Amino acid sequence: MERLIDKFGREIYYLRISVTDRCNYRCIYCMPKDGINWKPMNEILSFEEITDFVKVAASLGIRKIKLTGGEPLVRKGVQDLIAMLKSIDGIEEVSLTTNGSLLKRFGRQLKASGLDRVTVSIDTLKRDKFRVITRLGNLDDVIAGVETLNELGFKKSKINTVVMKGINDDEIVDLVDFAKRVGFDIRFIELMPTDLVNDWKAHFISIEEMRKKIEEKYVLEPSDKRTNGPAVYFRLDNVYVGFITPLSHAFCSVCNRIRLTSDGFILPCLGHPDRVDVKGVLRINDLEKVKELIRYSVKIKPKEHSLLCESIHSSMASVGG
Ligand code: GTP
Ligand code: 5AD
Ligand code: SF4
Repeated sequence: MERLIDKFGREIYYLRISVTDRCNYRCIYCMPKDGINWKPMNEILSFEEITDFVKVAASLGIRKIKLTGGEPLVRKGVQDLIAMLKSIDGIEEVSLTTNGSLLKRFGRQLKASGLDRVTVSIDTLKRDKFRVITRLGNLDDVIAGVETLNELGFKKSKINTVVMKGINDDEIVDLVDFAKRVGFDIRFIELMPTDLVNDWKAHFISIEEMRKKIEEKYVLEPSDKRTNGPAVYFRLDNVYVGFITPLSHAFCSVCNRIRLTSDGFILPCLGHPDRVDVKGVLRINDLEKVKELIRYSVKIKPKEHSLLCESIHSSMASVGG
């Protein structure tokens, strides 16, 4: 089978698919308070088009799929897409990153679709602060979502926490305790600069500072655990605590991924403006051309992101984080 190897020797086997740019939250680091100009529905790839893309990608060596948004569960019938992707030869895993608000409602259908794993974003355990960070969210819905995952027997669930100095850095240990209690792994993520993050530098906190806060209470045992993503993990009792450090320790040299946006562009890198339009060729079902464009996207994948020089110029919601 063909494999996708870029010009720096990295094998690309992981595809992040943003299924919608819409979201029921407006997290302060991701979206403006009035939302973004949502892409019109006729520009959004259908489930059939996404499935065609993944069939071609799988024939080129893509094995793992991550569904993101916006919030992927606001797209109607996403469980049907998961079942379609799970049945493609060569696809070993389909996982989902969600804000968790709709898991109680859709958890059962997601389990039935064959979804392998779920990651839930939780930045605070305080109801008032949760409202401030997400603008529209309700913490109780997300906690109910976490419980639903456990009740349904989802394994290897994770929490993602974007850490912001002066906003939620006082809750790192509380979040670790919560993760231990529910049996989820937890990853602390450095805030990435986007055009929407005001005063990014003032809120940035590095992994060293985060670790210090945890190590005042706990011993973090080094571990060689890896998932598909860029996190570095430590063992802490029943869970893993991970750190995702796009800025302080860029992980670009081991990058394994490309992205497909909801409106049909391939992004070779999250932190680089290049994009390759595949919607047109998907719509005329020219799958040979889709194959060529995937190979081309890997060929032009940059060595590293340029986040320290410039921010991500679109909302994270339109690229899926
Ligand atoms: P798993 O560990 O297998 O669940 O995958 P993952 O860690 O890639 O998934 P997730 O969607 O939970 O992403 C975690 C965080 O990493 C998010 O904040 C993403 O924005 C960030 N991230 C994911 N991919 C990249 C990337 O290629 N570059 C950068 N800079 N950040 C990324
Ligand atoms: N910096 C870091 N992580 C971010 N995410 C969204 N915007 C940012 C940002 N500016 C994260 C979300 C979610 C994932 C998909 O991307 O918290 O966990
Ligand atoms: Fe929605 Fe996730 Fe962006 Fe928050 S970070 S606004 S939950 S897409």
